[in-house]
Amino acid sequence: MRLSLLFLIVVNAFASFSLMGQDVPAPNKTNVPHFKIAAAPSIPEELSSSFFFENRERLREILPDSSMVVLFSAPIRTRTNDIDYPFRQDPDFYYFTGVNEDNAMLVVFKNPMRINEKWYREILFIENDNMIKQVWNGPVLGADQAKDVSGVATVMSNTEFKTMEFNWAEIKDVYSNNNLFIELDDLKHPGDLASMVSHFKLKTERAGKEILVNEGEDLYAKLRQKKSKEELDMMQRAIDITGDAHINVMKMIRPEMTEYQLQAMIEYTFQFNGAEVAFPSIVASGDNGAIMHYTENRELLIPGDMVIMDIGAEYEGYAADITRTIPVSGVFSEEQKKVYQLVLDAQTVAIRYATKGYKFWTPHEEAYRTIGKGLIALGIITEWGDIGKYFIHGTSHYLGLDVHDAGLYSALQPGEVITVEPGIYIPKGSPCDEKWWGIFVRIEDDILITDGPAKVLSERSPRKISEIEALMATDNALTE
Ligand code: GLY
Ligand code: MN
Repeated sequence: MRLSLLFLIVVNAFASFSLMGQDVPAPNKTNVPHFKIAAAPSIPEELSSSFFFENRERLREILPDSSMVVLFSAPIRTRTNDIDYPFRQDPDFYYFTGVNEDNAMLVVFKNPMRINEKWYREILFIENDNMIKQVWNGPVLGADQAKDVSGVATVMSNTEFKTMEFNWAEIKDVYSNNNLFIELDDLKHPGDLASMVSHFKLKTERAGKEILVNEGEDLYAKLRQKKSKEELDMMQRAIDITGDAHINVMKMIRPEMTEYQLQAMIEYTFQFNGAEVAFPSIVASGDNGAIMHYTENRELLIPGDMVIMDIGAEYEGYAADITRTIPVSGVFSEEQKKVYQLVLDAQTVAIRYATKGYKFWTPHEEAYRTIGKGLIALGIITEWGDIGKYFIHGTSHYLGLDVHDAGLYSALQPGEVITVEPGIYIPKGSPCDEKWWGIFVRIEDDILITDGPAKVLSERSPRKISEIEALMATDNALTE
């Protein structure tokens, strides 16, 4: 009964979407009964062309003299037979262009280059009108729109690249990205990605130039590591939507539900708010908590177990990554509370060190030390060297266009966003009192490094024991 009610709510909400495309009003921004829906954003809903323009300017500033960058868009990847995976743009290509299409390529020159009597600073190559593709996949960007989105003044058809000759005598270093390594054996159309890559390889080979990919990735990472105000706006939106997903689950979870039903509530909340799923949702109840990247999400929720929800919405390409661990039946047991509180304490200490000037690894070292002391105090370990049996992963990664974002792991600087995610995992059979067995806790927040103390961007997801238990005790209509 409860479950069918839940799905009625979900189905009803989608019914209004199914009318889109006909002459109907804009989507309803008010709350769907019982689901918390983030307020409409007061921020611009997309990144401006000046953002992408500035990114290229900053790239040019750090490029060595007489160098050029050639970035390829991501390839389309086949899921099965004629069906492709949803397209996800290469994050570096997106960061410097804003273009979300395949079969595209960006060239940035450090110093203006003369080609066929004209001077160029940068050129964007995009797909020509491909009528067959348009019928199946919708309209392509076209030159004017590509200029508007990216701020690149010169946009050409990707078929023009083949015959374009650079003045190689003026070029010392050539940087590219990982898409350079795509399989070249399924070259389908002149001008498509495989064709551009093979022409690029041919041209550089003839000119005797080495293509630098790793060195290029470091240059792009150096820029992407520090977020601009516009990026932080998009990330905050993704983070708030993810917080709402946690809140919805905390209010509606019941022992007889399944992991995939929690996943449905989470991803419903993302999609209803115009966001996407940044990575496969991890909804790991009971012993599944031992699997760091558990995404099967098929189990029934058992009273007394906890469930780890490691989830993230993606907004305009920018990811959130927040983990909450909650008791299935709404109340933590004494042992669960102790382990949970220890992870929370370790996180609090780590966040204190997520501060300008500290090494990237300092928050992890401090979390590790706190967990070590706590595990000894609880009698779970007796040897300092055994911490790694229960705290088995690092504490932080950068967050941005990639969930594990690009960055150089240098000393922390204002504008960087990192996760702080300590965890304790005690599988059955561990060498400790069996009252601790089956307790798996991870708590993850998204942190902005500032000029002062760390700013927790993900406060919206409740994380104190008292807050979680209080929220889970609130009534919702599923029980009415
Ligand atoms: N959210 C999954 C991870 O950070 O690995
Ligand atoms: Mn993470």
